[in-house]
Amino acid sequence: MPYPLLTTAALMLCALLAATVVYFALTRQRANRLLAERTREMERAREELAEQKSQFEAEVARRSREIEAIKDATILALAGLAETRDTDTGAHIRRTQLYIKTLAEAARKVPAYASALTGETITLLYKTAPLHDIGKVGIPDRILFKPGPLTEEEFAIMKEHTTLGGRAISQAQKQLGISTSFLQLAHEIATTHHEKWDGTGYPAGLRGEQIPLSGRLMAIADVYDALRSRRVYKKAMSHEEACEIIRRDAGRQFDPALTDVFDRVHEDFRRISETYADE
Ligand SMILES: [Fe+2]
Repeated sequence: MPYPLLTTAALMLCALLAATVVYFALTRQRANRLLAERTREMERAREELAEQKSQFEAEVARRSREIEAIKDATILALAGLAETRDTDTGAHIRRTQLYIKTLAEAARKVPAYASALTGETITLLYKTAPLHDIGKVGIPDRILFKPGPLTEEEFAIMKEHTTLGGRAISQAQKQLGISTSFLQLAHEIATTHHEKWDGTGYPAGLRGEQIPLSGRLMAIADVYDALRSRRVYKKAMSHEEACEIIRRDAGRQFDPALTDVFDRVHEDFRRISETYADE
């Protein structure tokens, strides 16, 4: 090949190489730019998703709090209605809630009860306790408001408040089509808070550990409150007298392990009864 032609070919080859290098450099630059843009878009989308997720979670938490508040208000309203059918005052609801919570928290330290009394269960006990006498709504006034001892026949009717309450809660469960731990515990407390450790209680005459723990706890809370409260037909007992009766009935009316627990926290019971005394 003549020399000038060789030079021209070499120059053309260099130019082609240079053009190729520039082309690839530009292509790579463009690809990097596109990649950076896509990364920014993805980052924005991720932030938006995280924002939406956090808004959604906040909304779910708000609704859950609202539902919980409605449930608490409904229970207190129902229990309050039941109380207007009794000689107790509104303070009875508050006191028995605090008694059962105090007793359950102390019982939790007893190994035999530790697994049954989780924090969640104690909260449920506290919230369902006001429903223990809901069945009194179905007891006739002449018996409920009788200012004196009941006859055998009247007492038999009075005892029905346990099964009436249990039935009302079962019907609510059926109508809802669900069985929540809340309603199960409310049912247990309503139906078993008058059962006695020695089997002489009502309505089923359950004995010892056949009685659900919730009913055994409620029995002590309810009896302590009844002993400490004034009625048309009786004076209010002192704290010491009420403690004496609960100790005396350990193993008869009450779970003896729970009366031992009561003995450890009885001063808290006294404080609650004085703080939330009837007006
Ligand atoms: Fe009762």
